[in-house]
Amino acid sequence: MAQRAHGANENMTPENSGGYDFVVVSNRLPVDHVIADDGSSTWQHSPGGLVTALEPVMRAADGAWVGWAGQPDLEFKPFVSDGIHIVPVTLSSDEVENYYEGFSNDTLWPLYHDVIAPPSYHREWWESYVLVNQRFADAAAAVSAAGAVVWVQDYQLQLVPKMLRTARPDLTIGFFNHIPFPPYGIYSQLPWRTQIVEGLLGADVIGFQRVADASNFSRAVRRLVGYVTKNPYIEVPGTEVPASEPNDQGQRQPPRRVLAKAFPISIDSSSFEELARRPEIQARAKEIRDGLGNPKTIMLGVDRLDYTKGIGHRLKAYGELLAEGRLDVEDVTLVQVASPSRERVQAYMQLRDEIELTVGRINGDFATMSHTAISYHHHGYPREEMVALYLAADVMLVTALRDGMNLVAKEYVASRFDGNGVLVLSEFAGASDELRRSLRINPHDIDGVKDAMIQAIEMPQLEQQRRMRAMRKLVLRNDVNQWSADFLSALRGSKNGDSVKDSEDPLGELEWTIERIRRH
Ligand code: G6P
Repeated sequence: MAQRAHGANENMTPENSGGYDFVVVSNRLPVDHVIADDGSSTWQHSPGGLVTALEPVMRAADGAWVGWAGQPDLEFKPFVSDGIHIVPVTLSSDEVENYYEGFSNDTLWPLYHDVIAPPSYHREWWESYVLVNQRFADAAAAVSAAGAVVWVQDYQLQLVPKMLRTARPDLTIGFFNHIPFPPYGIYSQLPWRTQIVEGLLGADVIGFQRVADASNFSRAVRRLVGYVTKNPYIEVPGTEVPASEPNDQGQRQPPRRVLAKAFPISIDSSSFEELARRPEIQARAKEIRDGLGNPKTIMLGVDRLDYTKGIGHRLKAYGELLAEGRLDVEDVTLVQVASPSRERVQAYMQLRDEIELTVGRINGDFATMSHTAISYHHHGYPREEMVALYLAADVMLVTALRDGMNLVAKEYVASRFDGNGVLVLSEFAGASDELRRSLRINPHDIDGVKDAMIQAIEMPQLEQQRRMRAMRKLVLRNDVNQWSADFLSALRGSKNGDSVKDSEDPLGELEWTIERIRRH
């Protein structure tokens, strides 16, 4: 299970830190505070692609990470964990309900994922979102050195860039949106659509997963605030101080050029390959296959239990193939890992019931005494076990109805150093822009998904290898270090011409660190 965070009790306070040149701000910290049934508590590495993506950069850059520890009402002093300076932000249980479960995950999440589930709009959730965003901005402002680089992450914190710029105009501010940015026709439903756009425009660079997300954002800017956009730039006019307030210096903002562009995120690819090459992981992969009765084909789905992932569509396609006799349960098993997520949000509770009902039905209808149709696991697993699963799986199924990137698709490719295995990938996942040699599907087209499953199962090894080789080249080259280096270089570029001396320039310092990481 999750690892214990090392050195979590070392003392670190903003006062004795002197301020950090590089600060990451995200809703979740890279460590979670976990309270066991016996009342004891530990810090554990929290799951999720974002953490995996930024941890190596943070360690190399000796930066600070501002975020929530994952438990309500608990106050923690800053500390150091595994070489990362952790600055916890406290959320009350009301705020967890209104800002996190409410506005972030029951308003923005469904809205930004093409309203697959209906978003709820509540004014008290919005008020809490504003309040909590201000708290994150204040915490980041307090630990940032003069001229520091602050990198704000994801949809939970879209107001932070503007709040930070107001408090600390000396900072260089980046924002990266890990989830899609919806087309204007959908985005315009949001009662607070203008405030969010203005909040994001506080950043110097706004990163998106796909080119389409960046253009959706630019269009929203044109429609809502009327600024001139010259792809990939947005011209934000300066604000004049009204004549009635001659001393109000704090509000004056010079005109700025904001870069809004796609920076597709990736994974720590070589570490997946390194794990996959370990004999004990390969032995575990064999053990998994043996445990499933050595079927000819193992298909695998790995997702947070989320309605955006198209798990139901995948199960429907698979169930129909079994019912029609195009697949035989003696020959094929589907392993579905569905890690628990946002379990107090109604739509997620309902989804779990639906998925588990379907899994039960398919197993009831088709499993034999010796072969199960679906091996279903409502757990998260450590990375070692995931890589063993990737190695054990002949076919990886990513059937998301909408997904910012989908790092699981990249993890599968990075792990398959043997060149075997077939990736079935939804065209609605950001990863499909890059992984063009996957079997791309429209998950709404159940017949198409069924045909792709059969094509994957029957694909000759030579073709598997040709496709996998091309995808591996891309995933190994465009890894998470490349991603952060590209984003930070863009941030650096956005400040060219500023009168900061190179020797004191946190951005130059940081880029150098990134270059070092890139060369390793
Ligand atoms: C997505 C989001 C992340 C989030 C993760 C897990 O990947 O982009 O910001 O941390 O899901 O969701 P949770 O609500 O548990 O943080």
